[in-house]
Amino acid sequence: MIATKEMLRCCRRCGLYRTRRNVVIGRGDPNAGVVFVGEAPGEKEDEQGLPFVGRAGGLLDFVMREISFEIPYYITNILKCRPPNNRNPDSGEIERCLPWLISQLEIISPSCVVTLGGIAASVLLPSLKARRISAIKGKFYNTGTTVIYPMWHPAYVLRNKSRLKEFIMDFHLLKVNLK
Ligand code: URA
Repeated sequence: MIATKEMLRCCRRCGLYRTRRNVVIGRGDPNAGVVFVGEAPGEKEDEQGLPFVGRAGGLLDFVMREISFEIPYYITNILKCRPPNNRNPDSGEIERCLPWLISQLEIISPSCVVTLGGIAASVLLPSLKARRISAIKGKFYNTGTTVIYPMWHPAYVLRNKSRLKEFIMDFHLLKVNLK
């Protein structure tokens, strides 16, 4: 099924509709060859209805500028509504929300999906669920329909500044492989 933005804005598939201010669908180029997928909207995203507009998004913008990442992209999340107090998404919320992401990926049909953080990686690469994000990130996984490239979540890098250099290197590897 091809979902529309109007359908998504009315979604009540899980309880998060009770506390959300906005459904955060995604932003960027709908014809992009690369789609970034984070975990769930935070406070700023819920307020503005756009993904990665807070501090984590600021780090993504900084790294993209640093390495001149000029490739058109689209960015979204596994969950389209903010979990209260930014708690982790629960498995029921992920299960109910996932058809929206699958529909977005069907429409955009990117050649590469970049997962940001352990939750997005475990949802889109379930066969690697048991492995730590640090062990699987920075490598390309061909799923048959697309290629998945897991990376650390920028919020994790903000909390662990010693990871910044490696995060930039992973981003650079992405850039040269997308060309
Ligand atoms: N963290 C996420 O995973 N997604 C956002 O949109 C913002 C912060």
